[in-house]
Amino acid sequence: MNFHKYLLPILILAGFSGCSFFENADPSKEKAEERQEQPIQEDAAKFEESAEGSVKSEERQDQSIQEDATKSEESSMESKPPNGNSKESPGKISGSYYQSRDYSNLYGMEGFDRELLDMHFTLYHGYVKTINSLMSRLSELEKEGRGRSLDFDAISRRLGWEYDGMVLHEYYFENLGGSGKLDDEFLIYHEIVKEFGSFQKWKEDFVNTAMLRGPGWSILYRGPRDGQLINVWITEHDTGHLAGGQPLLVLDMWEHSYLTQYKLNKGEYIDAFFRNINWNSVNQRLIDVSQQEKTAEDE
Ligand SMILES: [Fe+2]
Repeated sequence: MNFHKYLLPILILAGFSGCSFFENADPSKEKAEERQEQPIQEDAAKFEESAEGSVKSEERQDQSIQEDATKSEESSMESKPPNGNSKESPGKISGSYYQSRDYSNLYGMEGFDRELLDMHFTLYHGYVKTINSLMSRLSELEKEGRGRSLDFDAISRRLGWEYDGMVLHEYYFENLGGSGKLDDEFLIYHEIVKEFGSFQKWKEDFVNTAMLRGPGWSILYRGPRDGQLINVWITEHDTGHLAGGQPLLVLDMWEHSYLTQYKLNKGEYIDAFFRNINWNSVNQRLIDVSQQEKTAEDE
């Protein structure tokens, strides 16, 4: 019997019809499919690692701040800075040192346990200590005639980041500790409604801003051009600020501000924040900046 006569047409037909028997029997094709799936799995693994890395990166940043603050404290003990302004300290920022503010009034605030607040206050104190140390060191470098050294360069570049870290925490703590209720007679209420159409629309936009990924802040800003209100995301402490603008309501969205109590439930943390907003403080910020602007215009 001549098999070749029948076998050749069968093979040709199988090849054109994509016969699964022959397809699966092809080990090189199986491997190709495995290779296609593998990158997807690898990508997913990389994404998870990346997300974990991002968390670890933020933890490292916080840790680094604490370590730096400890070093700063030691450093400032070695070279005790003068209190207040000093004519002996030359330079643009000479003799300007800061004291940590006391926010113990926030203990007992519903939705913020003591462990969370203690950790946050410690981090805040770290920023204040670091700023004092950086300013002290810059002043020393200027005295030594090393204003164009690499040290001066590096410290000057770091100053704004640390300074914003200190000041934003103060805004944040000082717009907490309230009842969360906004009086519709307040100027801030009227300005929010004027700009956003309703309080709920503004809140939705503010929360959406706060839910952006990464370490940073959600801030209701009064813009410098014509006093318009804008919700702004600040990456870390320094990227995204409106030059000349006034922060009115400041929400810390670094993971240290909620992780120990809320894990990754950022929404629950934001709800707790809203239940404790001190709208008197927020309203007063708006009144103060409006009056300052009016005084400047009158002069
Ligand atoms: Fe913080």
